Amino acid sequence: MKGYQSHETFMADARMIVHMVLMSLVWGVMLQLTLFYFLFVPAFKKLQAVTIGGVPVTSSQFVKYSFNFQEMLKIQPANVYLNPDEQRFFRGAKQIPVAHYRYYMDLWTNEAFANTNRKMKNAFHLSFLAYTFSLGYLLFFFNKSRNMLNDTFIRGTDFIPIEKLNQRLKERVKAENYQIPNIAIGDTVIPFEMETSHFLVLGATRTGKGVLLNQMIRQINQRKATHFTGDKIILYDLKGEFVSKHYDPNQDIIFYPYDKRSVGWNIFNEIESYPDFDTIAKSLYTATDTRDEYWYNCARDVFRMGLVFLKQAGATTNRDLWEFFSQDLETMKEVLEGLPLAEKGALKHIAQPETNQAATILSIVQERIQFFRYLVDIDGSFSLRKYIRDEQNQKNLFLLNILNYSDIFKPLMTFAIDTIIRETLSLPDKLDRRIFFVLDEIGSLYRLDSLLNLLTVGASKGASIICANQDIGRIEDTYGKSNAKTFFNNFNTNFILRINEPETAEFLSKAIGERQVIRRVESRQMTTSKYGDSRGLSEQEKTERLLLPTEFQSIPNLEAVVKISNFGVSRLKIPKIFYPTNQEYFMMRTFD
Ligand SMILES: Nc1ncnc2c1ncn2[C@@H]1O[C@H](COP(=O)(O)OP(=O)(O)OP(=O)(O)O)[C@@H](O)[C@H]1O
Ligand SMILES: [Mg+2]
Repeated sequence: MKGYQSHETFMADARMIVHMVLMSLVWGVMLQLTLFYFLFVPAFKKLQAVTIGGVPVTSSQFVKYSFNFQEMLKIQPANVYLNPDEQRFFRGAKQIPVAHYRYYMDLWTNEAFANTNRKMKNAFHLSFLAYTFSLGYLLFFFNKSRNMLNDTFIRGTDFIPIEKLNQRLKERVKAENYQIPNIAIGDTVIPFEMETSHFLVLGATRTGKGVLLNQMIRQINQRKATHFTGDKIILYDLKGEFVSKHYDPNQDIIFYPYDKRSVGWNIFNEIESYPDFDTIAKSLYTATDTRDEYWYNCARDVFRMGLVFLKQAGATTNRDLWEFFSQDLETMKEVLEGLPLAEKGALKHIAQPETNQAATILSIVQERIQFFRYLVDIDGSFSLRKYIRDEQNQKNLFLLNILNYSDIFKPLMTFAIDTIIRETLSLPDKLDRRIFFVLDEIGSLYRLDSLLNLLTVGASKGASIICANQDIGRIEDTYGKSNAKTFFNNFNTNFILRINEPETAEFLSKAIGERQVIRRVESRQMTTSKYGDSRGLSEQEKTERLLLPTEFQSIPNLEAVVKISNFGVSRLKIPKIFYPTNQEYFMMRTFD
């Protein structure tokens, strides 16, 4: 920029400001005169009705009474010049001291002059109020020109202040009129019906996902204690964080074969009818890669066949199952040959035990049920399905899966959650039932096809899914790119904390959406004329992303962008409420 440019701009600005101030003063003066006129004229009219010796009082007499230049200039003595009419009253004197004049005029008119004079002075003082208008005029235009460059929102997703979002939510809560306490993040209250349209929390490690989830869990538990709504919480916990903060040994359940406190369980508890063999086998054997699907389908068939065999043979302990599938192929095949024809279709996959195909399939079968090794001595009557069906059962279920060993139990945990979700989906509709699924690090599980169903139709069952993950990448890997979008879109409420991964930031920027605004742009023309440069404003319609990817990458810890569909996008602070740990996060059991 050249040196004179700022000078010209400054001068142009100064000139415009002076112009604006002058205009405000002109308005002020005009208004003052008008005010004075209306305040003073009635009093003056009254004076004109007064007479002295039968002669009406004149305006020039009032002027002489009120304004004396000699007096103002401190000339002694200050005199008043009398006209011929007045000279008659004052015995022919041509001029008299102003003090005498005032004295006699008031004496003869019963103080009418003094009163009018006082009223004039009051009117004069009051008329200065006119300048508040000048001030207002200035403020109005200063403010207007400051806002002039702001964008005007037309359509799309708008960013609103958190107070406004909170207000809207509170109004919705009021309209809903449930007598049940609402879940809230600070002042942001979640309407009861919105719970079943699900929550997604995304954020890098240490940004506050856990802090947010813990606050929600605590409030749900408090609500459970005071208002019987048949609520359950199913928590998937990779760190034992939820167990340590929320597990109540007197009424909750831990499901984790490595933990002393775990319930006893048996997979046959989940088989209630013939089709369940298929469902269970399918749930355990989902391919991680579509290219491997054939192999996983074969493994699934073999596993199902084995289950049917075990059931028919009455060998239904965990040990039976583990030992059966640990056999070598040859023996397994021989035993299965004994099945009825309709049940042994899958034998063809392992018909030739010496081939690679058979070996591959068996290794897949075994890989997914490794965890049975740790279930052999903890058979028990617990059934995930019955737990969900039992509306009187208000226990929370902790699906613990300590990170160090999480690979071993990944199939079991995926299976357990899948089974629970399926059972939830088969419950009768009940809008005010609540089954919360708190799934931290959802990306650490295999694909849960049932989860997409629960997201879309779970509301009628009262299911509320609260998912947390570090990024979208793992979800895309597990569910596929297009499914990841569906996945994201099915969460009505999103809390987005700081995102480190650029792809996720880009994904979110796109997903949050665009807005159309009218943008005003200032332009300047430089001239050398004595009036300096001039300015102009132009308007353009623009479509832009509401939030840029980089904005997600710079969110401080314990802050979030919150998006609630149909309510708006805002910025929220997660309250710094941390709960103490009351229980061991994990108690490794001893193995014989
Ligand atoms: N008890 C506590 N006292 C003080 N600060 C805490 C406490 N617990 C958590 N924090 C703070 O809150 C922040 C978020 O922690 P949080 O456990 O919620 O992270 P996260 O997003 O769940 O990360 P991760 O992916 O590692 O689980 C941390 O940076 C930490 O500084
Ligand atoms: Mg966490």
